[in-house]
Amino acid sequence: MDIKKQRVLTGVKPTELPHIGNYIGAIKPAIEQSKSAIESFLFIADYHALNIIREPEALREYSYQVAAAWLALGVDTNKTVFYRQSDIPEIFEISTILSAVTPKGLMNRAHAYKAAIDKNKEQNKKDLDIGINMGLYTYPILMAADILTPKATLIPVGKDQVQHVEMTRDIAVAFNGIFGEVFVLPEFYINKETELLPGIDGRKMSKSYNNHIPLFMPSKKRRKLIMKIVTDSKVPEEPKDPDSCLVYQIYRHFADEKELQEMYFGFKNGGLGYGDAKQMLFEAIEREFSKPVEIYEELMGNKDKIDSILNNGVEKARDIAIKTLKETKNAIGIGKG
Ligand code: TRP
Repeated sequence: MDIKKQRVLTGVKPTELPHIGNYIGAIKPAIEQSKSAIESFLFIADYHALNIIREPEALREYSYQVAAAWLALGVDTNKTVFYRQSDIPEIFEISTILSAVTPKGLMNRAHAYKAAIDKNKEQNKKDLDIGINMGLYTYPILMAADILTPKATLIPVGKDQVQHVEMTRDIAVAFNGIFGEVFVLPEFYINKETELLPGIDGRKMSKSYNNHIPLFMPSKKRRKLIMKIVTDSKVPEEPKDPDSCLVYQIYRHFADEKELQEMYFGFKNGGLGYGDAKQMLFEAIEREFSKPVEIYEELMGNKDKIDSILNNGVEKARDIAIKTLKETKNAIGIGKG
């Protein structure tokens, strides 16, 4: 894979603010890849969030927060087309068209839908579809439209999204097979090395386990969380195995070579206690995020600026979306031809 030839696309559902696990596993690699790609697209998937969020103010606020977070963490809007999904109406038209070639059985197999069904089963619900909306059910079709509309070629994703990209390919193949080669088949990309950042209890860092360290929170609170990272009860003098120590595992992602060695040998040879190691980790995390936190707060205090950045992106994203829609309608026989 030659990243220089790729059109990279990332969608972010504005349902929660990112934590450091999201940053290391998804945001940082996506930003890095978009820097080396020939073209990159990043968007706020607000209509995807609508399936879950029922409070208008929350949806609006999350959309701003997520946009501000990505900007603060280093998205270069001179290189990356940054927009809101809801501002590109062509995506929804293409989504409707794709529905016509998507087998219903394919949607039955989608993980998110199956998980919702399983939950209803566990709770002995009579109707297994209870509480499941059509937005959730057809989620992969809208996601396919997100990807196929700008003809993206590479999608950096977490493991949970791989199936969606595979379905996007299936849907594109189905369409192209009937109507001719309109859509480009995308590939997914998983960042292997960094995909697993443990949370403060040792399980994968995730908001649903409540073991995460938020990015945008006051330093004092973040320090408190870091001090809660689970360790054994060895005293400072005792030698410890760095690789099985959570503090070290998280530190690996934020420290430089010299700092890492210091912690590694401090543990291995004994002498370094967990409290001091946690303080080292806290300082490394502060160093990485103090500037982004500042930018984030500044943007959240000036939402017009966020709007104007996103509006800039819309123009560029729509240019290509309009072209793809025209091509698609032409292929299916809608419009003048
Ligand atoms: N489904 C993705 C998530 O939940 C968000 C998303 C929507 C997305 N459309 C996309 C990701 C297109 C990549 C490409 O994280």
